[in-house]
Amino acid sequence: MSAIFPKWMNLFPTVAALGGLAATAGAVGGFWYYATPKFWNVGYMPKQPGGGFSHQIHAGKLGMDCRYCHTKVEKSYEANIPNVATCNGCHADGRLADLLATSATHKERTEFIRTAYASDEAIQWRRVHKVPDYVHNFPHHVHVAAGVSCFSCHGRIDQMPVVYQAQPLSMSWCLDCHRAPETSLVPRDLVTRLDLVEGQLAARAAGMPGEVASGRQLLDALREAPPQNCGACHY
Ligand code: HEC
Ligand code: HEC
Ligand code: HEC
Ligand code: HEC
Ligand code: HEC
Repeated sequence: MSAIFPKWMNLFPTVAALGGLAATAGAVGGFWYYATPKFWNVGYMPKQPGGGFSHQIHAGKLGMDCRYCHTKVEKSYEANIPNVATCNGCHADGRLADLLATSATHKERTEFIRTAYASDEAIQWRRVHKVPDYVHNFPHHVHVAAGVSCFSCHGRIDQMPVVYQAQPLSMSWCLDCHRAPETSLVPRDLVTRLDLVEGQLAARAAGMPGEVASGRQLLDALREAPPQNCGACHY
């Protein structure tokens, strides 16, 4: 499959110049439809190892901020998955002692954390969101700094007992926002407050008053508009 990349990648400039883009994208799109894994799609929800990890409990009920675990999301391209030491900080023997003593279910469901930590092994979380290799590393830090909430791209993660893909992550999905980002921008300090963001964006879409900042003002404050040129996202 890798042999195909150089070939059609070379087509990019020519294709753009000839304006034959639509036809080629169609053909390539057809290729990708059949060649890429079907599981990276809206609704994709792989079974996670051990007792799993519930965002509904940790980010929802316990109110933990996303950045407690996804520590790099504001600073780097990737939003890291926390290692087992982060989990063990709360789930080690001797912590949450009442819960471990009184709830056999809790003890059993969190045992995989203590086992992995003791044997110095990583938990093999299954990846849910992924853009194809011919797309540049997706820049989390830039989006978060601009005021694009996790909500806009990942949905109400704080209500998910098991993470699933809420948005298509397709090229037209990226571009729809890049062409009209004012519908999605929120003040930067709210990006991880998914409940507030959902309410605010719904109010904005309905043209209701009460917004703390208008999307247009937030867009004007950006250092540059989101890119639409091929090279911004493709090699
Ligand atoms: C206590 C730690 C913790 C907190 C807090 C947390 N997460 Fe996570 N997150 C994880 C772990 C562990 C995984 C990998 C397991 C999984 O996918 O369920 C994960 C997975 C994810 C994924 C899917 C990654 C993939 O494979 O594509 C997204 C998206 C995500 N988190 C977003 C959020 C958002 C948004 C918040 C805040 C509302 C948040 N997380 C809060 C630990 C955390
Ligand atoms: C800040 C403390 C804290 C951290 C960090 C933390 N947890 Fe928890 N976790 C809890 C508490 C408290 C509960 C019990 C919540 C309840 O039952 O209401 C819990 C419950 C659980 C459960 C049982 C869920 C169920 O359905 O009964 C699992 C599994 C779990 N955590 C996995 C993890 C994993 C994996 C990580 C690391 C990515 C993690 N936790 C990090 C505090 C934490
Ligand atoms: C503009 C859309 C967008 C925003 C905003 C966004 N993400 Fe993502 N996220 C993505 C895409 C696209 C991927 C897949 C990236 C890839 O394949 O390289 C992803 C992947 C992830 C992953 C999986 C990383 C891995 O290595 O397994 C986590 C965790 C995550 N995002 C958490 C967050 C959190 C937390 C926030 C908010 C603070 C957030 N994201 C905001 C689009 C977004
Ligand atoms: C909900 C809105 C939204 C979605 C969805 C979105 N973006 Fe963006 N993106 C933005 C905004 C806003 C900026 C401008 C940030 C700035 O210049 O401060 C941006 C900027 C960028 C940049 C420029 C980074 C830089 O260094 O200047 C790249 C590359 C990018 N996005 C890629 C993507 C890709 C790939 C996807 C789809 C997988 C995507 N975006 C989806 C809103 C979005
Ligand atoms: C904002 C980011 C972004 C920009 C700008 C962008 N693309 Fe894409 N492109 C993507 C993403 C993400 C995918 C992967 C979509 C998927 O997996 O369905 C993609 C996929 C493709 C594909 C594969 C076929 C398909 O639709 O799945 C082709 C061909 C392509 N892009 C060409 C272009 C060309 C030519 C341009 C310039 C006119 C361009 N792209 C601009 C993000 C972008």
